[in-house]
Amino acid sequence: MDDSLPEVFLQRCAAILSAEDLAALLSAHASPPVAVRWTGCPESLHEGSAYLQAHEISTTPVAWYDHAWRVQFADREVLVRLPWVESQQIFVQSLSSMAAVLNMGILPGMDILDLCAAPGAKTSLIRRLQQGSGVLVANDVSQGRTQRLKHLLSMQGFDGIDVQTGDARSLGGVMESCFDRVLADVPCSGEGRFVRARPESWSTWSERSISMLAKRQLKLLESACRCLRVGGEVLYATCTMAPEENEGVLHQFFDRRARRGDFGMSMVPIEWHVDQRRPPLSQWRGVVFRDEVMESVRVVAGDGMTPFFMARLRRES
Ligand SMILES: C[S@@+](CC[C@H](N)C(=O)[O-])C[C@H]1O[C@@H](n2cnc3c(N)ncnc32)[C@H](O)[C@@H]1O
Repeated sequence: MDDSLPEVFLQRCAAILSAEDLAALLSAHASPPVAVRWTGCPESLHEGSAYLQAHEISTTPVAWYDHAWRVQFADREVLVRLPWVESQQIFVQSLSSMAAVLNMGILPGMDILDLCAAPGAKTSLIRRLQQGSGVLVANDVSQGRTQRLKHLLSMQGFDGIDVQTGDARSLGGVMESCFDRVLADVPCSGEGRFVRARPESWSTWSERSISMLAKRQLKLLESACRCLRVGGEVLYATCTMAPEENEGVLHQFFDRRARRGDFGMSMVPIEWHVDQRRPPLSQWRGVVFRDEVMESVRVVAGDGMTPFFMARLRRES
């Protein structure tokens, strides 16, 4: 099987990343970082690390989230067969996925919409941060994936979550002004999650599919914002480096509003400082991005993370 990454992809990466960040990306593609999250009650957190140690899984703490640990790639096979991992008391989830939710500014009691929720890794962390109070609607367009989402939520002991199957591009018209927070973890080209040993992980990658995804992402973001109450916030996230799907979507979003006029939206600075954080691109292929876009955050591979992008937007009126 041909495991060479597309040449155009590598050229694009070289244009976006420093040599060091590109090397870290290729290393993450070769041995994807592994992390786990404790889903039991916070008071028994120490039981989780003791359990992993007892099974000779060496763990590294995560500086910005004490309910998570990094695990060696080489231990993955053993890890996923452990009973507490099978029962999801210890849940395998990427640090990038956890970081997006932790940057939503969730408080107990907030009403939250998870727009593209399946298979539900982030939904379950959102529910935990809500501390059992507030509405949570978890939506996904795929029937099969919403079944997986329901299974995951029941494995982790969560009930009272409204799981819906539908195209989130129309949710803005159905659930207008209903939520304090919306997570828009949109479908993307997944460049940060390519796995070298699995060429199928990038077999659909192309610049054409990036531009189709970007159109869909813009519609999803617009729908997400419409679902917000005044003062509410959307977290827009992708696990790709493609500027068209990241800065490009935000640029078009604010540009359209400036031209057509609509309710007010602004960007919220993200106070999350890790060594892998990078500034957003200020331009790409001749398009100079609007000032608002400069509040978004790129994260490169390293320290247990795969690359991702996030932006926090607030509804002002
Ligand atoms: C990046 S994944 C979401 C991962 C999920 N948030 C998690 O953490 O487990 C993107 C999801 O968007 C869903 N999706 C794609 N197009 C959609 C649409 N128009 N409306 C709602 N969901 C959509 C896909 O089925 C997929 O499950």
